Amino acid sequence: MTITQERIHAMASGFQSAKIILAANELGIFRLLAEKGLNAGEAAGALNLDAEACEMLLGALVGLKLLEHKRGRFYDAPDVKKYLGDDSDEGMSCILRHMNHLYESWGNLDAAVKKGRAKIKAPSKLLSDRNINRDFICGMFEIGYPTARKFTEEVDLTGVRKFADIGGGPAVYPIAIGKKYPDMNFVVADYPNTIKVARGYVKKYGMSKRVKLVDCPFFEIDDLRIGDGFDMALLSQVLHAAPDDKAKGLLKKVFGILRPGGKIIINENARNDDAYSPAPPLVFAINMLIQNAGRTFTVGELKGWLKEIGFRKIGARRLHERSVLVEGTKP
Ligand SMILES: C[S@@+](CC[C@H](N)C(=O)[O-])C[C@H]1O[C@@H](n2cnc3c(N)ncnc32)[C@H](O)[C@@H]1O
Repeated sequence: MTITQERIHAMASGFQSAKIILAANELGIFRLLAEKGLNAGEAAGALNLDAEACEMLLGALVGLKLLEHKRGRFYDAPDVKKYLGDDSDEGMSCILRHMNHLYESWGNLDAAVKKGRAKIKAPSKLLSDRNINRDFICGMFEIGYPTARKFTEEVDLTGVRKFADIGGGPAVYPIAIGKKYPDMNFVVADYPNTIKVARGYVKKYGMSKRVKLVDCPFFEIDDLRIGDGFDMALLSQVLHAAPDDKAKGLLKKVFGILRPGGKIIINENARNDDAYSPAPPLVFAINMLIQNAGRTFTVGELKGWLKEIGFRKIGARRLHERSVLVEGTKP
């Protein structure tokens, strides 16, 4: 794509429109205006906002085509209502709240690049703070469900009865896969706050009997905590948050809980083997730098680790720009 002044300007000022949509989502504007059209004063009153500032934000949202303005009233634009008007599973309000939590730390990128990673790693609020974790995990459901459906269509799961989802978050894979494979049972291992959020989804989708939720940090998984003899184990979007030695250690543990002939599948926002394409994993690597947690890998690195650990029949396929499946079989 050609770089023009227009493109540079659009990229550099992108934070402004990003913050406008994130603030509006956070303040509940899309939800409010999904129900009925209101004038600026009524919207400010309903949400307890400053009247002048609210009118300006509504105006900016009209400018960005996220709201419509007709006869003095503001309304959600039709698709905005669909995606941000409520908490439907097709919605995007959780992932936007999650991005709003990340926004502040991205403001420190230049300092982070000057100083590098802090030596002492503070515990991540994404896991420890109940509200921040809820937005993170329901955001993972919102963006994960389309990929989980694609996974179900493209991966041969014939004969898989016992499926382990390590760091399974909202249990989005068991929910998507379980619909097509009624004989499959699942174990999801994750942190306590996350497990609470997962419990809500599993119940909502009628999967409580088939999904066992285990409160277990993934570096501690073993046959005693989550069982063994699994036909398949999935690590979807988890390895990038761990230092390399811990990530490899986790893969070894997964080797231990699979039956001979069982398969591991890693789903990562991975880079191609040229290391500098496509764009999403390169940008996502910055997110991990900012959070002082992990990095992104090339597909070749992940395949190499599986080989080193003893997996065979190793392969990889790209599902889309943010998702590569790397798989191996335990001999
Ligand atoms: C990016 S989310 C991916 C969730 C899910 N696998 C998916 O693809 O939608 C990462 C998950 O790893 C979990 N996690 C992070 N560190 C963990 C740890 N040390 N032990 C267990 N779970 C952890 C988080 O709670 C979260 O559910």
